[in-house]
Amino acid sequence: MNLIKTAILAGALATMSVVSMVPASAQDAKIGFIVKQPEEPWFQDEWKFADQAAKEKGFTLVKIGAEDGEKLMSAIDNLGAQGAQGFVVCTPDVKLGPGIVAKAAANNLKMMTVDDRLVDAAGKPLEEVPHMGISATKIGEAVGQGIVDEMKARGWKPEEVGAIRVSYDQLPTAVDRVEGAISVLKANGFKAENIFPAPQAKTDTEAALNAATVVLNAHAGIKKWVAFGLNDEAVLGAVRATESVGIPADGVIGVGIGGADSAINEFKKPTATGFVGTVIISPKRHGYETATNMYEWVANGKQPEKLTLTSGALAKRDTFQQVRKELGIE
Ligand code: GLA
Repeated sequence: MNLIKTAILAGALATMSVVSMVPASAQDAKIGFIVKQPEEPWFQDEWKFADQAAKEKGFTLVKIGAEDGEKLMSAIDNLGAQGAQGFVVCTPDVKLGPGIVAKAAANNLKMMTVDDRLVDAAGKPLEEVPHMGISATKIGEAVGQGIVDEMKARGWKPEEVGAIRVSYDQLPTAVDRVEGAISVLKANGFKAENIFPAPQAKTDTEAALNAATVVLNAHAGIKKWVAFGLNDEAVLGAVRATESVGIPADGVIGVGIGGADSAINEFKKPTATGFVGTVIISPKRHGYETATNMYEWVANGKQPEKLTLTSGALAKRDTFQQVRKELGIE
């Protein structure tokens, strides 16, 4: 074997030993938890429960907010540079999928995704990356059912009601959630032409408010509205928009997804608003369990499940505390 070949082989072996290196103890394990919107209560809760896992198992958790692709890429480099062995990520852009995987590999980091699943250039999920997300269609259907039940309780006829579909269609889980809601509305007599898309530029309340305002102004003749979207923030934005154009709370039925502080603070208001419910999902599973899974992977070589989908439960102003308790997220 010539010298160059020997050198290459030695280099490869050295890399391999780094890749397969297992931390000697929990104290050596360092895991990143990167989220796309650190100010959002859902992600704060995920971090809180991931911290709990770190404390229990004794590993170091590095929490990083990455609102865009550039920040995400440097966050991964950063984790590599500080000797982390793996990370959990909710990416700001799922289409960066293959780039994120390559970046993780270049830094010898194991990775898994939470909430938003990576896709390739053709929009197909990257199935080899372990993922934990919500059962989006089912949870969307629970939103739709919550809306339909409330419409019946108020004696609303479907044909007199407009629906604001706060949409973020570049994210597959967002599409599945709103389509789940729409399927139930339609099955209960809602007319397709009364469902109006309100595309939001970002998945926060302000973007949803702006998008919903456009819909309300374009259909000022409709006085009864329902609203649904990707998360609580989307629906809160739509509800704020109805308030700003003077539609009273009893003319609005918004049902969100999440159940973190955004929804809780709304339920705690002295007077009920048009935000009537939320399907509470579990930041404990998404935070504690993913961080634990990653720890088991880097410390004990135990690979996480390739796909875990979590469930949710509808809650309203008067039931949210009970539902949270039942889900073990108090
Ligand atoms: C997406 C949304 C979040 C939250 C999670 C739950 O990431 O942007 O608000 O709903 O899904 O998986």
